[in-house]
Amino acid sequence: MYLRRTFLKKSALAGIGVGLAAGATPGLISGCAKDAGTPAILGGQAVRSKGWPDWPVWNPETDEARVIEVLRSGVWSRAETVTEFEEKWAELIGAKRCLSTVNGTYALITAMRQLGIGAGDEVLVTPYTFIASIDAILMVGAMPVFVDINPATFQIDADKIEAKITSNTMAIEPVHILGLPVDIEKVMTIAKKHNLFVVEDACQAWQAEVNNKKVGTFGDAGCFSFQNSKHIPIGEGGAIVSDDDDFMDRCVSFHNFGRPHGNVVGTVSGGYVILGTKVRFTEYQAAIGLAQLKRLDEQNTLRENNAKYLKDKIKDIPGILPYELSPNVTRAVFHLFPFRYKKDQFKGLPRSSFLKALQAEGIPCSSGYEPLNTMPYLNDAFQTKNFQKVYPKEMLDFNAYKERNACPENDRICNEEGVWFSQNMLLATESDMVDIADAIEKIYNNAEKIKTT
Ligand SMILES: Cc1ncc(COP(=O)(O)O)c(C=O)c1O
Repeated sequence: MYLRRTFLKKSALAGIGVGLAAGATPGLISGCAKDAGTPAILGGQAVRSKGWPDWPVWNPETDEARVIEVLRSGVWSRAETVTEFEEKWAELIGAKRCLSTVNGTYALITAMRQLGIGAGDEVLVTPYTFIASIDAILMVGAMPVFVDINPATFQIDADKIEAKITSNTMAIEPVHILGLPVDIEKVMTIAKKHNLFVVEDACQAWQAEVNNKKVGTFGDAGCFSFQNSKHIPIGEGGAIVSDDDDFMDRCVSFHNFGRPHGNVVGTVSGGYVILGTKVRFTEYQAAIGLAQLKRLDEQNTLRENNAKYLKDKIKDIPGILPYELSPNVTRAVFHLFPFRYKKDQFKGLPRSSFLKALQAEGIPCSSGYEPLNTMPYLNDAFQTKNFQKVYPKEMLDFNAYKERNACPENDRICNEEGVWFSQNMLLATESDMVDIADAIEKIYNNAEKIKTT
């Protein structure tokens, strides 16, 4: 095992003009395994050979009774179990109402549609997100307008929102990406000033808080995902929360073919009061969700503690800039642990080589999102009949669109600097976090060698 040696010590030496001889292996402590200081990617011993916590977590003894009960009941379309899940979710998040949906994507689409967001409207959104945040805007016929990110927090830069507001702006979609809250109080102030709807994409931020209030409860609607990688893994699933009864009644109708909201179980009476579709949760999804809900709080606390610990361990390594939190965040839930990698401090070692070297040390990692504000799916939407009929030609010119929606900070994070660790790694122990820090430090100490080999 590579011993964590202070790169600080090394820096201190460098600071007083003591260089290391060419070929010397920084960080190699006598008594260590022969090749302990050699990066694993160059044939040395990896910092870590054991794995990371499995995901999803499932305990047959405590989790399966309810699921089996549902399976054996033969009542599989939405009924009491779904209602129970919705009540529990609303209570946990601190919202008056919750409606479950097939997934987070359709939670967003349902919410936007029932707020009246649609053709001809512009919705302000971050480019640093999963594609579903943008798909939802396009699927209701609205136009995504990208606002650049604050590279320190990885979130939409609230100070850049107002410059993007036009007479067509209808809504802001703040995405609490990676489980780290947006500066939502500032977003809400801007929305109020300009009379805009706010649809929070909290699909990665279950129980995250700003000033002790859960994200998803600040805007007109908050949307969540329970897809398998998420902190409440159900396979698929989503939810909308809101305190507005009229809005929620409309969402309930919409998700159930447009039937009156009291008629959620799907009986044939009552007629069809609005145009709807079917995006209903099932009883077995809810039964799995109820089991998963029980461990959410404890896991989120563990993730947050480990994230803080890891941040502290790596923040002084030159070229490693861990996430910063937006103002007044009282809880971050870390769907991912992000940091910026500055290759100049790593002897010019490109991010892709850094990632490979880190993976070779037994530390899974990735470069994260790609820029969503320049990809062909946008132009594909612009070529549809609906878009062609609604928007003026100059708005649909893709090159001009890309220019108007340029987000250089996001480009840099996506293309050069962003690095993620996945949430399950944060369910390990503090000593596992030390392995991550050791591996980064080892690469830092050997950056030149890795680059040139
Ligand atoms: C930020 C964000 N928004 C929306 C979604 C869509 O959720 P789902 O996959 O449940 O449709 C996801 C999930 O992948 C997400 O990460």
